[in-house]
Amino acid sequence: MLVKFTPLGTAAEARPNETVLDTARRAGAPIGNSCGSIGVCGRCRVLVLAGAENLSPPTMIEMRVAGQRGFAPDERLACQAVVTGPVEVTTGYW
Ligand code: FES
Repeated sequence: MLVKFTPLGTAAEARPNETVLDTARRAGAPIGNSCGSIGVCGRCRVLVLAGAENLSPPTMIEMRVAGQRGFAPDERLACQAVVTGPVEVTTGYW
């Protein structure tokens, strides 16, 4: 379950039940966050470049934040999206 962080060029294997944010931390890929990964700050917003089907479905709280902030269909909260297969993500600040 390799998670790639583009264009940083870093990647890490996701552990069971690990989120994109958890995997990013181990890969040294900085993703904004300020709510302790409870899904309310919206700062961990990432754009999924590949493997969207390999992420858990959005949680109720994620759907609420996404609606309030106008997320595109391929944007997710890294702290809420659990990795179930290969994924590639990016942000607007890398
Ligand atoms: S870290 Fe706050 S919503 Fe993900």
